[in-house]
Amino acid sequence: MTAAARLRVGVLVSGSGTNLQALLDAARSADYPAEISVVVSNVPGVKALDRARAAGVPTAVVDHRAFPAREAFEAELLSALRPYQPQLVCLAGFMRLLGAGFLQAFTHGVLNIHPALLPAFPGLHAVRQALDYGVKVAGCTVHFVDEGVDSGPVVAQAAVPVLSSDDEATLSTRVREEEHRLYPRVVRWVAEGRVQRMGRRTQVRE
Ligand code: GRF
Repeated sequence: MTAAARLRVGVLVSGSGTNLQALLDAARSADYPAEISVVVSNVPGVKALDRARAAGVPTAVVDHRAFPAREAFEAELLSALRPYQPQLVCLAGFMRLLGAGFLQAFTHGVLNIHPALLPAFPGLHAVRQALDYGVKVAGCTVHFVDEGVDSGPVVAQAAVPVLSSDDEATLSTRVREEEHRLYPRVVRWVAEGRVQRMGRRTQVRE
């Protein structure tokens, strides 16, 4: 008997890639239902690319600065992904907005992870925004990507306390640890066909 095919996942990155690492580590288990098929960065030379290579995963760089318009950049991103036929794309610190043409190209859609409890604190410097606001609970969100900034349907969230001694670095570390647990878990749910989308809402079947 052959093992069930694993979900093929493409990961888009722009930086250090610690969330990519969490996905790569999860996918090393034979019983994890997804594999990281390709990693594409829009920034040359980032650490995330080294992490992918160290795990034996194919990489590509599509530098957005080489393209006059977003459509051309996205067409090239799709060309880089296409040979690996990803069924799901995960943004992991990928710092560009994506349009409908790209977002509709994958059977299971496009996921993102954001270091705040959305809809609070979308956009850049989310942990700093949370600290400046004075919230007592922070966290992270995995959501489907739409054309807005961190605005698509939420799949899962994890919360962490904000301590009075926290600065941006200590709170970021606490949030990041939760991100590394949450993202592989959500990708597993998608691979197991347990995530249903109903308009703005999603449901995860037990
Ligand atoms: C994470 O905090 C993620 O939530 C945000 O960008 C950061 C990426 O970090 N979207 P890394 O590259 O995965 O280390």
